[in-house]
Amino acid sequence: MSAPLIHTQVERHDGKDVWFRFSLSQLPAAHWKLHFCLARHIDPASLEGARLERQSGSYKVLIPAEGQRELRFCCRNTPIKKLSDMPRGFFLSLPEASTGPQLMPVVLADEDLGLPPSGPNTPDLPKVEPLAGIVPQPDQRVLLEGNFRLAERAHVSGPGSLTALLDHFNELTGLALEQDHDGEIRLLEEPLASEAYRLTITQEGVTIAAAGEAGWRHGLVSLAQWYLQHGESLPCIELVDAPRFGFRSIFLDCARHFHTLATLKRLLKLMSLYKFNRFHWHLTDDEGWRLEIKAFPALTDVGAWRGHDLAIGPQLSGGAEPYGGYYTQSEVKELVSYASELGITVIPEIDIPGHCHAAIKALPELLVEEDDRSRYRSVQYFDDNVLNPALPGTYRFLEAVLDEVCELFPGPQIHMGGDEVPTGVWTGSPACQQLMQQEGYQDCRELQGHLLRHCQQYLAGKGKRMLGWEEILHGDKVSRDATIFAWTSFQTGLDAAAAGYPVVMAPAQHLYLDLAWNQDIHEPGLYWAGTLNLEQVYACDPAPADFHANDNILGVLSPLWSELVTSRDRLDYMMFPRMLATAEVAWSDPAHKEWDHFAARLPGQLQILDQLQVGYRVPQK
Ligand code: ACM
Repeated sequence: MSAPLIHTQVERHDGKDVWFRFSLSQLPAAHWKLHFCLARHIDPASLEGARLERQSGSYKVLIPAEGQRELRFCCRNTPIKKLSDMPRGFFLSLPEASTGPQLMPVVLADEDLGLPPSGPNTPDLPKVEPLAGIVPQPDQRVLLEGNFRLAERAHVSGPGSLTALLDHFNELTGLALEQDHDGEIRLLEEPLASEAYRLTITQEGVTIAAAGEAGWRHGLVSLAQWYLQHGESLPCIELVDAPRFGFRSIFLDCARHFHTLATLKRLLKLMSLYKFNRFHWHLTDDEGWRLEIKAFPALTDVGAWRGHDLAIGPQLSGGAEPYGGYYTQSEVKELVSYASELGITVIPEIDIPGHCHAAIKALPELLVEEDDRSRYRSVQYFDDNVLNPALPGTYRFLEAVLDEVCELFPGPQIHMGGDEVPTGVWTGSPACQQLMQQEGYQDCRELQGHLLRHCQQYLAGKGKRMLGWEEILHGDKVSRDATIFAWTSFQTGLDAAAAGYPVVMAPAQHLYLDLAWNQDIHEPGLYWAGTLNLEQVYACDPAPADFHANDNILGVLSPLWSELVTSRDRLDYMMFPRMLATAEVAWSDPAHKEWDHFAARLPGQLQILDQLQVGYRVPQK
C-alpha cells in the first residue's frame, strides 16, 4: 500500500490569525489519528473535521471525525510568514487492534503558505573592491614592503612550551609549525595588555609580541587568516591590536535539536578563528535534557529523547521515531579541554525555572506537586515546564545537578537561564502560596527570585558566579554579582548596567542568529524580533560612547537557538557569515569599524570558509 499523503495549506491569513487546511489521501481503512508538529497554538474551538486530542509544545494530535479527509483549524494571533513555519513531522497512529504497523509516516506531498513569493531582495553587500584583511578588524594595520615565505614546517621560538598554541595554529591552517630555539617566527614577551598583540611580518621573519598566551594566540590566529588568504607567500604587514571587550561569546542551543560533539568541536575551531573566547552551551530546555547527571540517570534516559509514546512527545521537526541524544560526562570533559586548547571557556547553561519540561517529565516524583492547579502556557506552548520553588525536590534536584556541573566545568561562571517564566505559574500551588505567606512575598515573581538567589548562593559556595538572562532580576532577589544577559532589547542591558550589574549584550534585534536573514518566504528562521541581515548585525554597538555605565558592559553574545536547526548545514547557514559580524562587534574599536570595509574584507573570509568547508549563506548580489 502507498504511504498516506498530506497537502498542507494556509487557506486564509486573517490579520494575525492563520487558518490551515490539511487534505489527506491514500489513508488506511482503520481509524487513525494525525500527529504532527507546528510551533503555534491551535485554537481547539476552531477545529473542523477533527478534534484535538493533545497539544504540548509544538506537538499536536488530531482525531478526525468519521470518514474525514479534510481538517481545518486556526492559530490565533501568531502570523505564519515563512515556509520554515509550516507544520512538519506528520505520522498516523492506528488502533492497537488493527493489523499491520501501528504507526505510519505521512508524506508531505505539497505545502502552500498562501502568500505570494517574495519580490527580489536588495543586495546584501555594497559594491566594493575585495580586500585581503583580518576579521575582526585590528586596531592598526600597516602594509609593509615585500613578502615572507611561510614554510610548511617553519620553526617557532618563544618562552615555555608552545605546543598548545602551535597545535591550534596547525589545526586552522593545515601547516606543521614546530617549536625550536631559533625560529623564523618569534613569540616575544612584552608588557602589553593581556589580550593585546603586535604581529610583524617582514621579509626576514615574523614576530608576535604579547604579554602571554592570549595575545600570542590572537597574533597566530591573525597570521593564520593571512596565510589562508595568501598561501605561503605572505605580504609583509604589521598589526597592532587588542579587543574592545573581554567577553566574546557564541551560544548554541543543543536541546531543541541535538548537535554532535564533532559539530561542536568544529564550531569551537571556527569561533577561535574569529577570536571568540566563550562558548555558551545551552544544555537543557523543554524539548530535551542533554547533560549526563550521575545522580539522576533519568534526566538523560528519559529527558534526552522525544517521540511517539515517550514521556516527551515529538517536538519541532517531529516524527514518531525517538529523536535525541546527550553528552556523557567524559564527552563534556573532552569538549571543555578542547575548547581550552583554543583559548575558549565553556559556560554551561542549565535553564531554570522555566524551560524545564524535559526535566519535569524525567523526574516527576521530585518536581511535580500533585495538588498544583496553576494554569499557564509558556511562549512555546508548554503547560508543564516550570520548576516549583516551594518543593524540597526542586532543591535536591538543583543542588545535585549543580554539584556535577561545577565539577565538569572548571570555568568560574555558570548560567542558570531564568528566561520566559509564564504568567499564571505557581498561583494554584498550595506549596508556593504557603512559601509566599511565610516569606511575606506579594508577587509570584518573587518566588523566581527566591529560587535563583538560592542557586546564586549555592554556586558562590563553590566559588562560582551565576549568570542569567535578564529575567533573573524578576523578584529582585539576586545580588549584583550576577551577570545579566540582555536579550529582549538593547535598553534592558543598558538599564541593568546602569543599576550596577555586569551585563552581556545579546539583544535579539541585533545578535540572534536564529532570526531569518530577510523576509523572503524561503529564507528560514524566526522573526519575532524582526529579520536580521549581515549589515544589521554589524551595526550593533553594545556600549554607546555616551553611556555612563559602559564599564559594566562585559561584552557580547550571539545565540543560535535551534528550533529550526536540524543539521550541521543549517547551523552553518544561520551562523555564517553573520558570526563574523558579531566578531567585529565584540572585538573591534568602533573607530576602526566600517561596514564598507568589512564588506570588502568579506570575500577573502568566505574563501577561508570555503577551504574549511563551511556551508555559509552566500550573500546575495
Ligand atoms: C531567550 O531567548 N529566551 C533568552
